[in-house]
Amino acid sequence: MNIWICILSLSYIQFVDAKAHCQQQYVSVSLPTSELTKLYEIATWFCYKEGTTNFNNKIVHLTIHGLTYDHTYWNFPCESSTYSYTDYVINKSNGNIVVLNFDRIGIGRSSHPPAYDVTIDLNADVVYQLTEKLHNGQFQDTKFDNIILVGHSLGTLISWTTASSDSGYNRFVNGLISTGWLHKNNPIGGMGIISSMYPVQLDPKLRQQNLPLGYLTTNPSWPRQTLFYNMNDADIGIVQQDEQLKETGTLGELRTCEAANNPLVTLKIPKAIPILLVIGQNDQCFCNVTLACDNSLIIQEREQQNFISSTETYVLQQAGHSINLHLNSHDWYQIASDWTQKYFRIKQEL
Ligand SMILES: *[C@@H]1O[C@H](CO)[C@@H](O)[C@H](O)[C@H]1NC(C)=O
Ligand SMILES: *[C@@H]1O[C@H](CO)[C@@H](O)[C@H](O)[C@H]1NC(C)=O
Repeated sequence: MNIWICILSLSYIQFVDAKAHCQQQYVSVSLPTSELTKLYEIATWFCYKEGTTNFNNKIVHLTIHGLTYDHTYWNFPCESSTYSYTDYVINKSNGNIVVLNFDRIGIGRSSHPPAYDVTIDLNADVVYQLTEKLHNGQFQDTKFDNIILVGHSLGTLISWTTASSDSGYNRFVNGLISTGWLHKNNPIGGMGIISSMYPVQLDPKLRQQNLPLGYLTTNPSWPRQTLFYNMNDADIGIVQQDEQLKETGTLGELRTCEAANNPLVTLKIPKAIPILLVIGQNDQCFCNVTLACDNSLIIQEREQQNFISSTETYVLQQAGHSINLHLNSHDWYQIASDWTQKYFRIKQEL
C-alpha cells in the first residue's frame, strides 16, 4: 500500500512541489590506486533552484553519503517533499544554497577500483578534488568560495579527514555539517552493522553487477530497518525503498575507519571551519542507555574536546541512524539551513 502511494507521488509531486533542478555530470579524478589506470569517473549531480542563471556568491553544500547508500540518501526519490534534503535547503534558502551531490568512489554510477584501495583516505581525496573543481569553476562556470561538506555516517568521517590539516585536502573547505557520526560508538550497534554485511557476490540485488571482490552490502536477512531506523519515527514504505536502493561498502573502508576516527584528526580541523553536529536520538550505532544522545547539550559535552573550532550540536528527536529518512527529517533540515545562514550570510553579502 505504502509502496503504491510512493510510486504515485513520484510522478505527481514533480508538478506541484518546489523541486530543485539537478544536472548530472561525470567528472574525472586522479587517484593513487594499485591499478595502472589512475583516472576514475565520479557521477555528480549539481542541484539548484530552477531558473537560476547567476551562481556567484552561492553557498555549496557538498553532500557525502554513508556506507551502503548512494547520492539518493540526500535527494530521496520517493516522497521527496518530506525526505529530500536537497529540495529542502535549496527551497528554504530561496536558491542561495546549491547542492553538489555524488556517488562516492566505488558506489553506483561512479568507478569501482579494487576494494582494498577504496579507503577513507581515497574517499577524502575524491572530496578534495570535487572542492577544487568547484573552486576552479568546473561547475556552472562559477568559482565557488563558500563550500560546506555535509556528511552522513561514513560520509562524515570522510569529511573530517578532508577538513583536517594533516591531509592537505582542506584548502577549499569552509564549513562542516556532520551527521550520523560521533567519536564514541555503541559497540553493540556498530557490531550489528559489521555483522550484517556480506559479499555482493551473494546478494540477489547486486550480484549481476560484476563488482570486484571485497565489495560488501547489507544482508537482506538482517534488514536495514533494524540497523538504520527507529520505526516509531519512520514509514515502512520508505524503509522498503531504502532496501531496494541499497548500495555497497568496501573492505578498504572498514579497515581504515578506526584510524580516521582518532580525535587527533578532528583536532587538526582549523578553527576557521565551523561545525554543526547532528545525531538521531535513537541512533543505535552511537547511543545506548549509558551513552546517551538525548539532547544537544549531552552531544556538546561528548564531542567538544575533539574540536578546536566552533561546534554547534542538534539532536533529531526519536530518529534512528539514517536521520534523513525519518518522519521529522525537516526539523534538522531547518537547523542546517539556519546554521548555514548564520555562518555564511555575511560572507555572501561582501
Ligand atoms: C518553499 O519555500 C516557500 C517560501 O519559503 C514555502 O512557502 C514553501 O512551503 C516551500 N516549499 C517546500 C516544499 O518546502
Ligand atoms: C554503551 O556504550 C558504552 C561505550 O561504548 C559501553 O561502555 C557500555 O557498556 C554500553 N552500555 C550498554 C548498556 O550497552
